[in-house]
Amino acid sequence: MEFKRLYREIKTLLTDVTDSPAYEARVLLELAAGGSFEDMMFGNGYVLSAEELQSLDKLVKKRLGGYPIQYLLGKWSFMGRDYLVGEGVLIPRDDTEVLVRTAISMAQQIDAINIFDLCSGSGIIAVTLAKEIKNSRVTAVELSESAFEYLKRNCAVNEAANVLPVMGDVFVCFESVPDRSVDMLVSNPPYIARSEADGLQRELLSEPDLALFGGEDGLDFYRGIIKNWILKVKHGGAVAFEIGDTQAGAVTDMMLENGLCRIKIVKDIQGYDRVVCGFVE
Ligand SMILES: C[S@@+](CC[C@H](N)C(=O)[O-])C[C@H]1O[C@@H](n2cnc3c(N)ncnc32)[C@H](O)[C@@H]1O
Repeated sequence: MEFKRLYREIKTLLTDVTDSPAYEARVLLELAAGGSFEDMMFGNGYVLSAEELQSLDKLVKKRLGGYPIQYLLGKWSFMGRDYLVGEGVLIPRDDTEVLVRTAISMAQQIDAINIFDLCSGSGIIAVTLAKEIKNSRVTAVELSESAFEYLKRNCAVNEAANVLPVMGDVFVCFESVPDRSVDMLVSNPPYIARSEADGLQRELLSEPDLALFGGEDGLDFYRGIIKNWILKVKHGGAVAFEIGDTQAGAVTDMMLENGLCRIKIVKDIQGYDRVVCGFVE
């Protein structure tokens, strides 16, 4: 089939599963044929081989079945840098930019150097902070073995030598961190309530449970981190969490009860509460 017609057909099929059918059709064609979309589209009538068509068919079926385009592509961009992604690691979300921008601004206020990113996943937060905050050292803590592999590789591909990836459980590994030694604590922990699991988007089902669920009410990690880690942060140090849009009140209360002050709630571009942050008294 003529390339342009094939492209149009795939684009139409993808409208059922994505808001960006043109972009995704282009990605799938490039993956199947291994060439540049522009060359195939605007060159001299590119025709996919039988093998390439078979591979395209598989990719399109997978995508129509709800498999994320990011996993098919094997990488995704966050704040101008590329990160390797695949099964076993959470896909970077644009929403997380609110947390990273808030953390950068807090770090500048207090000259933060020793930073911890808890529940680090692919490493988007740790790497961006390490790159954007002068002289910083970022310890990135992640429990999942497969996510940890992505974290290490993403530090390497982004040349973030000032990130120290640590495989550990945030409910346990605080014990080895000296009290009042950390300048800033940042975390985008799993925060979906287990009770909401049934209503989740199809794409989310391909992502690891360990990255999504924060206990029955979604707040387990905020409880655990605030209880165990605040003592690790210096007086005057900063703490910032990404939150689910209904969790600002509960997380603010926990922070106030545990010696944090100047608490602020930051909204995302759609107007939802996305970050709660504050300073240790
Ligand atoms: C919501 S994802 C966030 C990933 C990344 N920080 C981001 O913003 O894209 C939460 C991450 O926490 C990790 N995780 C879950 N339980 C953990 C634990 N007890 N200790 C450390 N990491 C944990 C998951 O494997 C997952 O990578």
